[in-house]
Amino acid sequence: MRTSLTFVLLAFCLPVLPGCPTGQFPAELGECPDGSTVTWADASAVLEANCTRCHSSTLTGADRQAAPENWDYDTRDGALRDPDEVWLRVYTDNMPNDAVFAPEADKGVLWEWYSCDGPE
Ligand code: HEC
Repeated sequence: MRTSLTFVLLAFCLPVLPGCPTGQFPAELGECPDGSTVTWADASAVLEANCTRCHSSTLTGADRQAAPENWDYDTRDGALRDPDEVWLRVYTDNMPNDAVFAPEADKGVLWEWYSCDGPE
């Protein structure tokens, strides 16, 4: 109930994002919204923009910029290793740790994809 209400507010808020308050996203993953069409293509685009410059299975050693081994977001399986941990890091602005997550609205893509159990 709390999640779906938040999602309604989110859906209302997104088209006018510059006027939206920060902290507009639910603190935790929730129910997949009815009629969701989000796919891995959507989620991977967001992860590529914000995460895979460090967290990629194609990177080793110093190129990982200290991102832990096997925490990689260039594949769907990798991205699904620990959805709650991903969302916690994104929601709290802990990751990415070298830049601001951008665009802010794309946090909603990750929230939805993970809340829908990572559709292909
Ligand atoms: C500039 C490099 C860099 C980028 C970009 C980056 N990370 Fe990280 N990430 C790190 C480093 C370094 C750590 C280890 C330190 C820590 O846990 O905070 C880490 C740790 C993590 C962990 C914890 C893994 C564990 O061992 O429990 C998660 C989850 C994570 N990152 C998710 C993300 C996500 C999701 C994104 C994109 C939204 C992202 N990171 C972007 C460098 C990065």
